[in-house]
Amino acid sequence: MANLRGIFIILHAAATVAICLFSNPLAALEEKDEDMLFIKYHIHITNDTPDDMPFRAPNVHLHCKSKNKDVGNRKIAWHEDYHWDTKINYFRTTLFFCYVWWKSKERYFEAFKATRDEERCRYYHNSCLWSVREDGIYFSNNNATWRNVYPW
Ligand SMILES: *[C@@H]1O[C@H](CO)[C@@H](O)[C@H](O)[C@H]1NC(C)=O
Repeated sequence: MANLRGIFIILHAAATVAICLFSNPLAALEEKDEDMLFIKYHIHITNDTPDDMPFRAPNVHLHCKSKNKDVGNRKIAWHEDYHWDTKINYFRTTLFFCYVWWKSKERYFEAFKATRDEERCRYYHNSCLWSVREDGIYFSNNNATWRNVYPW
């Protein structure tokens, strides 16, 4: 019995050493990859349309969904920041698309796309920032510089 236990301990130690020697670099890589998959991304959409003084600016209407999740039909008030979270799935096919309309303008845009956003949206609190404006839907990954990527 004592021998068996001894053998077990030796095998266990040998296995541990083998894992350290041979598979650690790979394991480390995979772990890093896994970590990346577990990052929670924040998708923000802000209504930055101009105020229609003296009237209140009309709401922005938004409907966002992915294959598995419907974020719902939403009205975003002037200067309201609407947001939700997502992780990236193992196959990196995570995609949230939105239909947005404001006054007589409307369009479709991709609010989060794993292959496009997994790197660029890590820069600022793991956030993809969108701003709905008079001439289109702007993107920022730092909350400082904005680009009109979906003009309407
Ligand atoms: C972006 O910056 C504005 C102005 O400083 C701030 O009010 C807002 O909370 C920021 N957005 C995010 C998502 O951090």
